[in-house]
Amino acid sequence: MSDAIDPDRIERAVEHALTRRKDYGEERLDEGRLAPDPFVQFDLWLAEADDRGVYEPNAMVLGTIGADGTPSSRTVLLRGVDDRGFVFYTDRSSRKGLALAANPTATLLFPWYLIHRQVIVTGAAATVDDDESDAYWATRPYGSRIAATASRQSRPIGSRAELEDRVRELEEEYSGVDDIRRPERWGGYRLRPWRIEFWQGRTSRLHDRLVFERDADAGPGSPWRVERLQP
Ligand SMILES: Cc1cc2nc3c(=O)[nH]c(=O)nc-3n(C[C@H](O)[C@H](O)[C@H](O)COP(=O)(O)O)c2cc1C
Repeated sequence: MSDAIDPDRIERAVEHALTRRKDYGEERLDEGRLAPDPFVQFDLWLAEADDRGVYEPNAMVLGTIGADGTPSSRTVLLRGVDDRGFVFYTDRSSRKGLALAANPTATLLFPWYLIHRQVIVTGAAATVDDDESDAYWATRPYGSRIAATASRQSRPIGSRAELEDRVRELEEEYSGVDDIRRPERWGGYRLRPWRIEFWQGRTSRLHDRLVFERDADAGPGSPWRVERLQP
């Protein structure tokens, strides 16, 4: 079989994608059934996404703005949520970490396509404290802790072999030792939201969009306004 890409096949794939128009179901999101607290509403939807088979329902797309104003996005995993905000862990010297240091305003998007739902959270990200990062670090498998120590996330490296060598060196250094020190550059962020949008797909593209909003400097427990947006 030839490795050449068949242009007809590409054309067919594009056509298939374009014509596979899906109409969404009869589910609705109305003000009467909305939880008064967006974190409660989020917990309900997250549990439903999980029950209904969404793959990695805690995967979310983090959007940031770099120091030069360039937006960028990537997937991270939600590791905790309560009325203080949404927590994820990463390398703070990564591209996203540098962006958040320059501009803490960020978005999180949960793309639950399978159940025709989307949640978009906007707020300010702040680092979680060392004790909280240490506690989460300790729950990570040995291999993930070694990998996070070996990898200077987002920086170029000459080859895969170079990275694997570094992992081997660390495995020797920590041979028989489970207590791997958390690198200072690795830790959590908590995004404290001031806007949370719940989107429910409906038939004929007449979707439901309900948005919770409050002032950017409002503390946990302060009241939210709810607004319906046109689809
Ligand atoms: C499903 C999935 C989950 C991910 N979870 C994380 C995560 O929790 N933390 C993280 O730093 N990177 C995670 N990544 C990798 C990021 O998407 C990204 O490649 C990495 O963080 C570097 O991003 P940056 O260069 O924009 O900083 C995940 C990727 C995928 C596809």
